[in-house]
Amino acid sequence: MNYENIIYEVKDSVGFLTVNRPDKLNALNAKVIDEIIHVLAEVKKSEEVKALVVTGSGSKAFVAGADIPEIQAVGLKDGMDFSRRGQEMTRNIEELGKPSIAAVNGLALGGGCELALGCTFRILSENAKLGLPELALGAMPGYGGTQRMSRMIGKSRALWMMLTGDMLDAQEALRIGVANKVVKPEELMDVATETAKKIAKKPSLAVKMAIMSVNHGCEMDLESGLFLESALANVLLGSQDKTEGIAAFMEKRKPIFTGK
Ligand code: COA
Repeated sequence: MNYENIIYEVKDSVGFLTVNRPDKLNALNAKVIDEIIHVLAEVKKSEEVKALVVTGSGSKAFVAGADIPEIQAVGLKDGMDFSRRGQEMTRNIEELGKPSIAAVNGLALGGGCELALGCTFRILSENAKLGLPELALGAMPGYGGTQRMSRMIGKSRALWMMLTGDMLDAQEALRIGVANKVVKPEELMDVATETAKKIAKKPSLAVKMAIMSVNHGCEMDLESGLFLESALANVLLGSQDKTEGIAAFMEKRKPIFTGK
């Protein structure tokens, strides 16, 4: 499929999704969201792609939010559908079954911040900033931001961001665990790509089960989470990849994983 507002490429088992509306600071309109959701479905079913890197075009913004003219046009009748479609995008990234890395190359505001929060990891360039400024427009985060940010950094810090509009700079994002790494702008794509490749070499079924166990288990009480963990661990203990991984260790050779 030809995309108008994103670029999607695959190289060495890694998919690269670039939001490409630099003249609008990569703001997410309905078309961009449709295209991202389409790519995510492709990544999910692809045997070749083992990890996804998400970034924005240009050096100023990762994504500067949902498209403000579109927000203007939405009302009570269709506002919930508008929010649910954005949530579908961030949820589909989270539930990809493969790791996703947001390579945050500049401002990640509103929907852009929410897109980054849906990813498994966030690597920030030193000049990146994350913010949830929707309240200033009389709106609020609606693509998962109120839920994921508060789960990630706690209710008090998340509400501070939303109610004051204060942005997190890269070092603060690293300190409080929103960013996994902060790197020089010129190193951002290399570090994100190397991280993706490192995970791509791991047995994909094990990667998927670990992500599922953390994502779903963290939403449960401990006993239920532990029960889920044991069921997913059991899937791996019966897998061909585990037989191969253990055999390769014993025989002091490199394993050949099949994802089965
Ligand atoms: N939706 C649609 N267009 C957006 C946008 C958004 N969220 N954010 C920026 N743009 C557009 C601007 O309208 C402008 O387009 P134009 O040149 O056709 O007028 C272009 O991107 C460049 O933005 P500009 O405001 O001129 O750049 P700046 O450097 O002066 O300011 C920001 C950058 C990010 C501070 C400012 O654009 C901004 O506040 N954007 C909105 C951020 C926001 O509230 N996001 C959450 C939305 S729910």
